[in-house]
Amino acid sequence: MPKSSLSITDNRTGRQYEVPVQDGAIRGADLRQIKLADDDAGLVTYDPGFMNTAACRSAITYIDGDKGILRYRGYPIEQLAARSTFLETAYLLLHGELPSATELDSWVYGVTHHTIVHESIKKFIDGFHHDAHPMGMFVSTVAALSTFYPEAKQIQDETSRRNQIFRLIAKAPTLAAFAHRHSVGMPYAYPDNDLSYSGNFLNMMFRATEVKYTPNKTLEHALDVLFILHADHEQNCSTSVMRSVGSSHADPYSCMAAAAAALYGPLHGGANEEVLKLLREIGSKDRIPAYIARVKRGEFRLMGFGHRIYKNFDPRAQIIKQIADEVFEVTGKNPLIDIAVELERIALQDDYFVSRKLYPNVDFYSGIIYEAMRFPLDLFPVLFAIGRTPGWLAQWQEMLLDKDQKIARPRQVYTGASQRDYLPIERRG
Ligand code: CMC
Repeated sequence: MPKSSLSITDNRTGRQYEVPVQDGAIRGADLRQIKLADDDAGLVTYDPGFMNTAACRSAITYIDGDKGILRYRGYPIEQLAARSTFLETAYLLLHGELPSATELDSWVYGVTHHTIVHESIKKFIDGFHHDAHPMGMFVSTVAALSTFYPEAKQIQDETSRRNQIFRLIAKAPTLAAFAHRHSVGMPYAYPDNDLSYSGNFLNMMFRATEVKYTPNKTLEHALDVLFILHADHEQNCSTSVMRSVGSSHADPYSCMAAAAAALYGPLHGGANEEVLKLLREIGSKDRIPAYIARVKRGEFRLMGFGHRIYKNFDPRAQIIKQIADEVFEVTGKNPLIDIAVELERIALQDDYFVSRKLYPNVDFYSGIIYEAMRFPLDLFPVLFAIGRTPGWLAQWQEMLLDKDQKIARPRQVYTGASQRDYLPIERRG
């Protein structure tokens, strides 16, 4: 039987070491014994952006970037998108198994009955400037929720954790919709418990003077599928922020506000907004080659393209492309889809993109659907955040229950000055 270990020869000293390999990984701490001298702190790995560092063991989401595979708890994303609902998928992510009918009823009831926010949250949102970005409002109000639920600090208490999980999944759409209504100067629309999670979100977004809002079934379903596709994506930037902040034992509202802030950036969940801006700027198919040339000159990145893990195709982008047709049958075709499809066609024939394995990611087509459904551009990253909420919470809970986890505290390779003496200001050059 071959040994499950790695033999290392340190050519600086000629010494040999053997470190165990478990599940395809060595423990970084095992490298510490590799030293030049006894007072040396030992070897570290240098890995900016965590290109090849596993920070946890996780049983939640599996991705094979070369084969374009994404599974939640073992279930292929294609099956969940076709047959599950967002709340059932959220249950699966958090509990590890699909619910029974009774478990699902009680779960949906729990989420549905936590959708209302404290009236003071409305006043808080009122305080934002009329043109405040909804993602800024979302990040701040999620953080503010922690002040309403001080018991959320009891992170080791299972009941408290469960209550905060209900609240965060339930209130994320309410905060998003209230932020939107504030921007457009419309009165806040309260949740309607008769509607589904996604149907109620459409209600809180778009209800005008009607007594009862009836969501369009196709759009309600498309939105639910989009939320499923965004629900988790293992150790991405915002999720690792959720885990990092959570590792200091902060309450889940503070953790999620930090995660949402990470998502806001244009290289992460802010990309869907940037894609739409770019497609609008391009404006017509004949202008695409000039934009591709500018990307290749390094003037800017083609937003919605490329992924750290997917190097062949992003399965989420393929599903989104399919549901776009269903949505357009209701809303009429968004003309930007033709520009996007042509942009993808041209890019995928170009050696720049092919050699770097840059393919459309989840953000490339999602914004076109959101726009067709009348969501304003700056709300797109918030829609991503609503979908990602159960994933963040599942990863946070897994981290808290994992005995291996400690406060996140990376090492560094110090490159600054060695010790020197303080000079009074009059003696400095
Ligand atoms: N347009 C043009 N060139 C690109 C792009 C792009 N979108 N993405 C990567 N490259 C180039 C990059 O310049 C580099 O080229 P070179 O080797 O010549 O220096 C090479 O491809 C590798 O790029 P990288 O930055 O080292 O790759 P990464 O794995 O660190 O970055 C990424 C991944 C998603 C941040 C990046 O592809 C990107 O900036 N894409 C655009 C933003 C975007 O769409 N983000 C959404 C990601 S999917 C949703 C989510 O989970 O957030």
